[in-house]
Amino acid sequence: MTRHIVVASGKGGVGKTTIAANLAVALAGRGKETVILDADIVMANLEIIMGLRNPPVALIDVLMGKLRLPEVIFEGPGGVKIIPAGITLDGFSERNMEMLRVALREIPEDVDIMVIDSPAGRDAAMVMDDGQEVLIVTTPQVSSVSDALKMKLLAEKMGSEVAGVIMNMVEGRPRELKVDEVEAALDARVVSVIPEEEEVKEALASEVPFVLKYPNARSSIEVMKLAAMLLGEEYTPPRRSLISRLRGIFR
Ligand SMILES: Nc1ncnc2c1ncn2[C@@H]1O[C@H](COP(=O)(O)OP(=O)(O)OP(=O)(O)O)[C@@H](O)[C@H]1O
Ligand SMILES: [Mg+2]
Repeated sequence: MTRHIVVASGKGGVGKTTIAANLAVALAGRGKETVILDADIVMANLEIIMGLRNPPVALIDVLMGKLRLPEVIFEGPGGVKIIPAGITLDGFSERNMEMLRVALREIPEDVDIMVIDSPAGRDAAMVMDDGQEVLIVTTPQVSSVSDALKMKLLAEKMGSEVAGVIMNMVEGRPRELKVDEVEAALDARVVSVIPEEEEVKEALASEVPFVLKYPNARSSIEVMKLAAMLLGEEYTPPRRSLISRLRGIFR
């Protein structure tokens, strides 16, 4: 059975696509057959993060009944497979939604994990279903956390299980909400805390996931830990090369 992990948020722009992409690469790196699906057919940008240029076909072709899901799966970096969204200005129609639910059940048997990058806000309900695990991304600001709460309630209503909360773009400033405050507000466990980091932006600019481009960055380590946790495996930190260790000493 393929595990479905939905990465969702209430507020937009909090880092869902970035985290979903890197988490998928980290899971693939742990030997799991992993597919990432971009379910944001209005603002598709997973392709950019993954360096997949102009895929000829995409999820939207499946939703329009032209192709089957296995026909729109592409090879991505680090052994991960990608289902790009394709773009439509119309957003999800009733019929699209039904097609998406059907398509999600057409995922090839050998896929261990499907990571779903969902659109922000209420459109996320289109991809949520019974038996899925949902990771909710929020930044440590009150407005983001209060929208995250709405998303959590929506996920539960759709029959999905909230597997945890990811705090992203954490800078450690005094006015930011702390882990225990976010946990209390959402009545859910914070499973990952990812810092606001330059490497994340640089990786985006070079169209390579940060876990591959900067494996020693703090964000990469957090995402690798999260992947291990989701698989119930133990995380062991990457062994830094002698040169990078020496650089650390002489900096
Ligand atoms: N930990 C981080 N450190 C620095 N920049 C980050 C971090 N996480 C995300 N970003 C940046 O924030 C921006 C928004 O990220 P992203 O597109 O992943 O958000 P999103 O939640 O998917 O947005 P949308 O709701 O539009 O789909 C991107 O430019 C990304 O590079
Ligand atoms: Mg996104």
